[in-house]
Amino acid sequence: MSETAFDLIVIGGGPGGYVAAIRAAQLGLSVACVEKRASLGGTCLNVGCIPSKALLQSSHHYAMAAEGLAVHGVNAGKVSLDLAVLMKRKDAVVAENVKGVDFLFKKNKITRVVGAASLKDSSTVVVDPGKGGKKQTLTAENILIATGSESAPLPGIEIDEKRIVTSTGALALDRVPKSLIVIGAGIIGLELGSVWRRLGAQVTVVEFLDRILPGLDGEVAAQTARILKRQGLDIRLSMKVTGAKSSAKGVTLTAEPVAGGGAETLNADVVLVAVGRRPYTEGLGLEKLGVTTDKRGFVTVDGDFQTSVPGIFAIGDVIGGLMLAHKAEDEGVAVAEILAGQKGHVNYAAIPGVVYTWPEVAGVGRTEEVLKEEGIAYKVGKFPFAANSRARCNAETEGFVKVLADAKTDAILGVHIVGPEAGDLIQEAVIAMEFGGSAEDLARSAHGHPGLAEALKEAALAVAGRAIHI
Ligand code: NAI
Repeated sequence: MSETAFDLIVIGGGPGGYVAAIRAAQLGLSVACVEKRASLGGTCLNVGCIPSKALLQSSHHYAMAAEGLAVHGVNAGKVSLDLAVLMKRKDAVVAENVKGVDFLFKKNKITRVVGAASLKDSSTVVVDPGKGGKKQTLTAENILIATGSESAPLPGIEIDEKRIVTSTGALALDRVPKSLIVIGAGIIGLELGSVWRRLGAQVTVVEFLDRILPGLDGEVAAQTARILKRQGLDIRLSMKVTGAKSSAKGVTLTAEPVAGGGAETLNADVVLVAVGRRPYTEGLGLEKLGVTTDKRGFVTVDGDFQTSVPGIFAIGDVIGGLMLAHKAEDEGVAVAEILAGQKGHVNYAAIPGVVYTWPEVAGVGRTEEVLKEEGIAYKVGKFPFAANSRARCNAETEGFVKVLADAKTDAILGVHIVGPEAGDLIQEAVIAMEFGGSAEDLARSAHGHPGLAEALKEAALAVAGRAIHI
């Protein structure tokens, strides 16, 4: 192969693209990955999952030191915040992870090309490095689009990433705003709203729907809303934001009840727009090639991730479904295996979702709402962390586990958790579902005592009305 001809060109170096590139290289394909950002890792690693989790961890420590340790008899005295150090640590965490992906690319002999890619035909990619640099033409047997997504805009609201910000700006504020309005009570809004609330901002969350966290189990979402309100988040449901004006003094937001009624004016130092994400395909030239997209702009693919044009594949946020890094990674592995002649596969029924608030919220499989909609007969087993001994030891007793099982077969249909370490606990349910497990299987598996995971076992026991500790 020449230096510009490859078996596979991956466009986009995020969790979908870089994982696909590594897996394809492992399977013996020659691979190039085109990424326009100077660093690999995509949104998740640079301005998404990773920096937000670093900030969530630091702000959690701050909140614990300021007011959460007294219950343990630990008096931290007057706690102060050094935001510059906190942000520097977050940047260092990102840099370390980026370096890790660089290393993996070298180890797997993946050619990395920096620049914006556009498709000339089904086997040719032109890369523009920007700043008047020389364009480069690459060819490949197959091309994989893994260009991800971008923050969805809100009509009438102009983002400046200083006062009116997306998640990117909210990860890099240089001082704690006195007041922050978050538009959208989805995952991004609640995670970043939590960060700045813990660091001292007054946070108001304005949500269009009559609930938070759409798509998650309704009962879990309602309990999460109660907990977050107790933490000081002012959550305003069924409110529609109609406009925002930025000035030197701050932002003035106008909102009105969805059901109709008088408009309200809200003022804040900073406004975070977190109303969802949309597929990012700008400049790829998909239309010209006949790569079809759906009406929301997501690239349409078949069961093998192939687009409407043979030889062009797509994975991750850009094809829609759950916009999650681990879903993109699994698709990346699957498509690489398919291209190498193997049978790649993603089980969409067992992909967990996690919200890294405190406590965490996690779910896998179907919610009660979906089961009702689909008319499936199910049984429910619930167990509160207040009755779990380890949670009591940890002074973290808020929340519960809910197991949903098929009424006839006892197969686990969904597990939903709000509570301590929910994001890790859910993995047990994912594995059980992946193996076609039943509530009985979960209930009869030995769980270390005292452990938070015992709440899962008890919830599984509760499906058959035989929980022991409640
Ligand atoms: P989202 O879809 O989770 O939530 C957006 C919220 O904004 C919804 O509740 C929606 O009803 C509301 N909304 C829409 N228009 C509105 C308006 N005009 N006024 C008020 N509210 C309005 O989207 P989000 O939080 O922006 O996240 C984007 C994607 O990123 C999601 O798909 C999410 O799964 C992913 N993500 C995942 C994370 C994780 O796995 N921990 C962390 C952050 C993001």
